[in-house]
Parts: sequence; structure tokens; C-alpha cells
Amino acid sequence: MNAGQASRQAGCPADRDETGTRTLRRHADVVAAALDSRTFSSRVSRHLNIPNGMDGEQHARYRGLVERYMTPERVAPLEGRFRQIAARLIGSLPRDHRVDAVSGIGSLFAVRAQSAWLGWPAEAEAPLLEWMEQNRDAARSGRLELHAAVAESFDRIIRSLIEDGPGTGVRSPRGVTAELLAERVEGRPLAIEEVVSILRNWTAGDLGTIAACVGVVVERLAKDPELQCRWRHDRPDPDEMNREIDELLRIDDPFTASRRVTTRPVETGGQMVPSGERVHLGWAQANRDPEAFGDPDAFRPLENAARNLVYGIGPHVCPGRGLATLEIRVVVEELLAATASLEPYPGRAPVRARPQQGGFQSVPIRLRASSGPGA
Ligand code: HEM
Repeated sequence: MNAGQASRQAGCPADRDETGTRTLRRHADVVAAALDSRTFSSRVSRHLNIPNGMDGEQHARYRGLVERYMTPERVAPLEGRFRQIAARLIGSLPRDHRVDAVSGIGSLFAVRAQSAWLGWPAEAEAPLLEWMEQNRDAARSGRLELHAAVAESFDRIIRSLIEDGPGTGVRSPRGVTAELLAERVEGRPLAIEEVVSILRNWTAGDLGTIAACVGVVVERLAKDPELQCRWRHDRPDPDEMNREIDELLRIDDPFTASRRVTTRPVETGGQMVPSGERVHLGWAQANRDPEAFGDPDAFRPLENAARNLVYGIGPHVCPGRGLATLEIRVVVEELLAATASLEPYPGRAPVRARPQQGGFQSVPIRLRASSGPGA
């Protein structure tokens, strides 16, 4: 049993993991901490982290810049392109054989959809997929030196997409990446380090999170024929689908926690926490808090929507929510449209990711061919 499992069993509102970090697990405590960003600072690292690792006015300035790329007006026109990418990917998958919903659907789709949005070339796909694999291995190993190496290799990929060499001219980037390179902040152009940090933030964690979200939703669909049948045949409208996807992610949240550091002594999780202490906001555990949701496994999309913390809350609430939700819904809709059914692959159980990562490492499924035209 690892420290995470031990603390879950202990039933205390906040416990320390093997690194000595406390995780807040009650819904009320996590919400209170996320809303009080003066006490629970996001400046947890000495590395530049835009806007995640910033507080106050500095955070607001960069957050404003980032948000402009993810407004509903900017996200809605991406649907057609995402649908094309999903349809092509799903069309290429074998029928009646084993497919891993995480690596074979989620990761590939996430990389292709994000690359299309960011204006990255097809050659970026292989290094990004390889990087996602290394990132997962590093997380599984828990070795800090591997984390550092993986972070550096990601920066090299990003830099190769936006410049020819350190400090030299830009290699004709397109789309959103080109727009970012032309951005200004405080009356000056964004520095390359800042562009790299923003792009790292939009891809490094989120590719893996989108892939994990697809894994969670597909795993549920495969084992819940009633839900699959309803989504397949009744075709809920986009808002309803989005709400139902959010509820599946609340029940099994792949984005498990966010880091904070206290700026003053504060009482939280039933304990006094000194200033300068590392605290994790445990989104996944708060999303299953019976005090907030009753039975955490009960599927109640409408009733639970307002308390759902999958995309966080407060000044750092996820600005990419609309984009992420669109990507997840589109790939699931295309998967259902191109198959007669999807089932758990016989004899191969899904493998859980490490508790800190959430979701699944792999979800083996079998796709049944649809018999209609285009099948
Ligand atoms: C796929 C599912 C995703 C989930 C579950 C998710 C979840 C979250 C959560 C919980 C936070 C809050 C972190 C905190 O309070 O410290 C967050 C922040 C953030 N997310 Fe997402 N996210 C997802 C996808 C995306 C995507 C696709 C993008 C952009 C391309 C994105 C961009 C960001 C950014 C920039 C922040 C930091 C905001 C800030 O510090 O002000 N996310 N996300």
C-alpha cells in the first residue's frame, strides 16, 4: 500500500504523502483554498510557469493573454477540424481486435487535435507521442532526475517548433503559435522563454490529461451498455453530452491535484498549517466527497454540475475547459458513429494509472463494425 492509499483509508481530511506534502481532500476545504489565492499561493516552483505558477496582478495579466485564445468564439470553429481528425483516426482502427482507448485513441487524438489548433506540423506527432510515454514513465518511477530530463526534452521539442536555434529567427510557425509569437505584454514583445512556457502549459500536461479523460469516458461506455445505447441512439444535445462527460470525469477524475504553498499560518483540513507549507488541492478526492455529492458513484449530471471540480475553481480555474470538453465530446461522438458497439476486450482488464496520475494507463476495448454505409 502506498502513502496515497494509506491516507485515503485513514479517513482524515488532510494527510501527508511520502514527500511530506499535505493533500486537502474535503470538497469544502479544497474550494476554500482554491478561492483564497493570497493564502494558498501558486508560486510553488522557481521555474517560469505561465500563468499557473503566478499570483495576483501578474497572474491576471498573463491569464488575460492566455484566455483570449480559448474563448467560445475561438473554440467553436475548431469542431469541424477536430471531427475530421477523430473520424480519420477511428476509421484506421481495427475492428474486432484489441484497441487501447488511452494510447490508441486518446493520446493520438490529443496530439493531432492540439497540433491542428496550435498550427504545428505533422512531424511534431512522433516526438510528442514519445515524450508523453517518457513523461508517464517518469511519473511512474517517481525519480526526480527523470522528471527534470523529461521537462528539458519537452522544452527542446517546443523550441524546435518555434525557432531555428537559441536566439535566432523564427521558423515560419503557423496558426495560434504564430499569433503567440507576435503577442505583447506590458508594452514589449513576449520573450521566447515566455512563449515556450505558455505552450508547455497548453501541451505538456494537457495532452496526457485529454488522453486520460478519453480513457475514463470510453472505459465507462464499454462497461455500461445502457449509457452507450443512450448516447448512440438518443444522441443527447451537445450541452447535455458535455454535462454527462463532466459527470463521468467527476466520478473518476484524471486531473488529481494542483500544488499550492501557504503564505501565512492557516487552519485547513482540520489542522493548523504553518506558513511556507506545500499543500495539494485534491480535486479527484474532493470530487468524490460524500458530504458534497452523497454517493460519489451516483451518476447525477444535472444535480452535481455546480459542485463539479474537474476543471478547478477560483482565479486559476481551467481556461481550456471549452476546448478540452469539445475535444473529448467530438472523439467520443465519432467513435460511436463509426461503430456498432464498443466492448471491454475479453480477458484484458483496464490497468489503473498510478493514484497520483488518475484515470487509466490502458483501457483494452473491442470495436464492432457498423453494418451501414461507410462501415
Ligand atoms: C483535458 C482536460 C483538462 C482538465 C481536466 C483540466 C483541468 C485543470 C484544472 C483543475 C486547473 C486548475 C489548476 C489550479 O487551480 O492550479 C487547470 C488550469 C489550467 N488549464 Fe486545464 N485542464 C484540461 C485541459 C486543458 C487544456 C486543453 C488547456 C489548454 C490548451 C488547459 C489550460 C489550462 C491552463 C493555462 C491552466 C492554468 C490557469 C491559471 O493558472 O490561471 N487545460 N486545468
